[in-house]
Amino acid sequence: MRPGEPMDRRDLIEWLRESDEARLEELWARADATRRVHVGDEVHLRGLIEVSNHCVRRCAYCGINVSNSEVKRYRMSAEEILACARQARELGYGTVVLQAGEDYGLTRGAVADVVRRIKDETGLAVTLSLGERSDEDLRSWRAAGADRYLLRFETSDQELYARIHPSLPGRLSDRFVLLRRLRELGYEVGSGVMIGIPGQTYATLADDLQSFVELDLDMIGVGPWLPHPVTPLGRGELPPAADSEQVPNTELMTYKVVALTRLLCPEANIPSTTALATLNLASGRELGLTRGANVVMPNLTPVEYRALYEIYPGKACIRETANECVHCLSGRIVRMGRQIGRGSGGRRRGRG
Ligand code: 5AD
Ligand code: FES
Repeated sequence: MRPGEPMDRRDLIEWLRESDEARLEELWARADATRRVHVGDEVHLRGLIEVSNHCVRRCAYCGINVSNSEVKRYRMSAEEILACARQARELGYGTVVLQAGEDYGLTRGAVADVVRRIKDETGLAVTLSLGERSDEDLRSWRAAGADRYLLRFETSDQELYARIHPSLPGRLSDRFVLLRRLRELGYEVGSGVMIGIPGQTYATLADDLQSFVELDLDMIGVGPWLPHPVTPLGRGELPPAADSEQVPNTELMTYKVVALTRLLCPEANIPSTTALATLNLASGRELGLTRGANVVMPNLTPVEYRALYEIYPGKACIRETANECVHCLSGRIVRMGRQIGRGSGGRRRGRG
């Protein structure tokens, strides 16, 4: 298949298996050109606030899952969250992302309240990433002013989904229902997958990419799976796919998925993720941004909590303050000839 032609499942699998450097250069160039036409040269900064590391789930990949009794748990107060949001505004970000494990200690009322206060005081766009919550919770937060919601579906293979989410009463189909419901409620909706989880095949990953299109996602986050030693996946307890079928959790595979995502969903906001930066501290973020991505999510979590939000080990920027990160990132973006995005950087439909 030549660049420029539409892609079906077979083409996607072929690209995911591609190793020819010249062909890959074509893929990067095409993804970069598509990014420029549809979402422009602006790179939007989303300030990430990891508001709680409590979680009721037992996800087999995640270092803060409920069975990790080693990690000290924290939940930020409304005042602490608000202080981070003020800082985000001072640093020139357009959005704050409140992310946590699935923590029912973050009650409907408390979250609605903090969202309302952030909107009133700062006017920033608010993205929530708080897991699978009830319809009442999601409605109440939307009414309080939340603009966007992130919930990755992690894999489109039902059987693999069930294996890596042992404690979920919910199934993959429920998560898809929830993603559609979020759209009905008026949220901009984000989702995504991990790359290279044991058991993920090339065919599954191609299906994941096609699911992004079917769900008409506004935001799509993809990053490599990074083994955490306290988890069943990190300890190697779940079987990989057969040798030639198993997707590797590499930097290169991540760039391929970022680039293909841009080609399939030209208008989506696509972050160059922290997980990618973790694999290549020197230039992972930049390479993501030149191969399809247009968003970065600098960490705003107070330094005393950051190390406790250890979904995977070795996370990039764990010690840098918000201030250091924003200067480092802005410098990197400007040196690439791109601009820092202004405004909230929501999805613009139908341009280009
Ligand atoms: N490696 C990489 N990504 C992870 N996530 C959770 N645990 C890991 C890990 N070990 C991702 C999941 C989740 C998002 C917040 O972080 O995709 O949805
Ligand atoms: Fe955090 Fe560079 S982005 S220090």
